[in-house]
Amino acid sequence: MSDQRIYLSPPHLGEREKMFVEQAFQSNWIAPLGPNVDAFEAEFADYIGVNHALALCSGTAAMHLALLVLGIGKGDRVLVSNLTFVASVNPIMYVGAEPVLIDCEKESWNMDPNLLEDALSDGEKEGNLPKAVVVVHLYGQSANMAEIIQICDRFGVPIIEDAAEALGARLHDLAKPGALGRMGFFSFNGNKIITTSGGGMLVCDDKILLDHARKLSTQAREPVPYYEHTEIGFNYRLSNILAGVGRGQLELIDQRVDRRRDVFDRYRRELDIEGLDFQPEGAWGIHTRWLTCLTVNEAAFGSSREEMRLACEDANIEARPVWKPMHLQPIYEKAIVFGGQVSEHLFNTGICLPSGSSLTEHDQTRVIETIKRLQK
Ligand SMILES: Cc1ncc(COP(=O)(O)O)c(C=O)c1O
Repeated sequence: MSDQRIYLSPPHLGEREKMFVEQAFQSNWIAPLGPNVDAFEAEFADYIGVNHALALCSGTAAMHLALLVLGIGKGDRVLVSNLTFVASVNPIMYVGAEPVLIDCEKESWNMDPNLLEDALSDGEKEGNLPKAVVVVHLYGQSANMAEIIQICDRFGVPIIEDAAEALGARLHDLAKPGALGRMGFFSFNGNKIITTSGGGMLVCDDKILLDHARKLSTQAREPVPYYEHTEIGFNYRLSNILAGVGRGQLELIDQRVDRRRDVFDRYRRELDIEGLDFQPEGAWGIHTRWLTCLTVNEAAFGSSREEMRLACEDANIEARPVWKPMHLQPIYEKAIVFGGQVSEHLFNTGICLPSGSSLTEHDQTRVIETIKRLQK
């Protein structure tokens, strides 16, 4: 019998999720609103250190609403990280705006502040400043927010933080990622560090913005006894059952970060091999190591990234190439891009290894041995 499949980042349930879900059943709050949703929002806002949080059905929905309540629409430009999952960019298209792609820096694989500055300077010269900058915190690590905030403030452009992959990350001298921009959002998709099976959270300090997003998330119903609508809304709320899962998961977030960092540390220790380079941790903060990612230098290591991925697949191990950058995506090939070479190199050579907080020692040994066998 072949070994069981090792997944990249499977859900990891704790003891208390079931209790919160049972409470929902017992009290008949099987609706897209209810006490678990209210409590999850309050507990999440408290954890991140923001005034307000809005629980939604996905991170993508959260970003869509952020763009809408910031008044971004047709013809506007929005700067966005180039090395990311496509869901960081698609909502810009939903509102009819134009994404402009900003490449990453080698130091952290996150948005390069120098390229951001170039893009904003060009925009200013052309009299076409972007309406927002969407900064992605990739693979569990905050971007260099001190520099990025300083640059965006100078040009007066608001930041939306895509912290979908970075719940639990920290910065040494600043608040938590997600709490630093005008608005921030998170994902609780099944592969994230905590999950509600599917879900997201929009956070910000500004009550007016968040109340507007809340209204849009429930079909934009006006506060009158009958159904009246003066703007187009959406059905984006999170169910009270899933919020129960989220409450149980959130209690464990710091433990989950510690465990993922341990998984990373073991990979780095045991795969300390010429030609393998792990995603660096920026000096400014603490990476959650949601995913352990590394690049493979074929000449130095003896096998390519793709050979590594295929060897993992043969051993029933899920390993995934680093995100294909947006400027190489057929749907965004015409977008303006600042830089592009760094993310292209990371895509060609980078791989994400199984990193779940429930990964056993034995399974991690299987991954490590599979990779070591490729060394020539
Ligand atoms: C960087 C990034 N942004 C946005 C999203 C979208 O989140 P969701 O899947 O909850 O819509 C994800 C994950 O799925 C992501 O990894």
